[in-house]
Amino acid sequence: MAQRSPLISVMAQAADKAARNLIRDFNEVENLQVSRKGTNDFVTAADIRAEQTLKEELARVRPGFGFLLEESGAVKAADGRSRWIVDPLDGTLNFMHSVPQFAISIGVEQDGELIAGIVFDPIKDELFWAEKGRGAFINHRRLRVSARDKLASSLVAHGRPADESPPARERFLTQMNHVLGHTRDLRRMGSASLDLAYVAAGRLDGYWEEGLQPWDIAAGIILVREAGGYLTAVDGSPVDLDRGSVLAGNPHIHGQLHKALAGR
Ligand code: IPD
Ligand code: CA
Ligand code: CA
Repeated sequence: MAQRSPLISVMAQAADKAARNLIRDFNEVENLQVSRKGTNDFVTAADIRAEQTLKEELARVRPGFGFLLEESGAVKAADGRSRWIVDPLDGTLNFMHSVPQFAISIGVEQDGELIAGIVFDPIKDELFWAEKGRGAFINHRRLRVSARDKLASSLVAHGRPADESPPARERFLTQMNHVLGHTRDLRRMGSASLDLAYVAAGRLDGYWEEGLQPWDIAAGIILVREAGGYLTAVDGSPVDLDRGSVLAGNPHIHGQLHKALAGR
């Protein structure tokens, strides 16, 4: 059975606490679907409450760490080295529509390098976690990326960039055009952190998306790396949290998907 380090344990405990309210709120959202009042304000409140819980819990156990939080911004690290990168609810639109595909994502950066991360799916009770040099796990089981070696038989996820300007839309449609017909099929599942966790788990063979934020991908990046996957930006350059462009895959599929996206 995989032994979790103290760092992973404190993240898992914080996520567990925040998830209890999220699950209750998710059940409530199901009831709200039939009301005409809409669910936006309710979901926004659930999201902010989850972030508050995570912030309190994590600050209590590691007072020296700073934060990068989706909803409330950045807090400087007292230790000058470490920060949590937190998305309290990744897959908000799914949550809002009662689709059970969303997660809490927490990454840890030290001296500018990702050293650990968790992605917790509270509905399926799946905790994906990884620590630099120690491997990636789901609950207590070790994770490896898939062994599939042909793009034509691969299941590949993707996301649509938030930027809806004509050039960004054109770029996305060109990518789709290049990739369609070269994979077994595509999936757009609506939670970037889980998309990356699923690549790490070998459920997906590849994934690409542009226009992401650091909190969408920090934890997922270390999961894919530690599960033996390859990661770059979509143009093949090194992946950079602040650029938000991600192309992930098992070692066979990553290169093939990169070529296909470029139309080669
Ligand atoms: C979104 C999800 C989605 C991705 C979007 C993200 P949110 O995060 O990860 O899969 O396509 O780009 O913004 O808003 O649900 O936290
Ligand atoms: Ca997100
Ligand atoms: Ca979010």
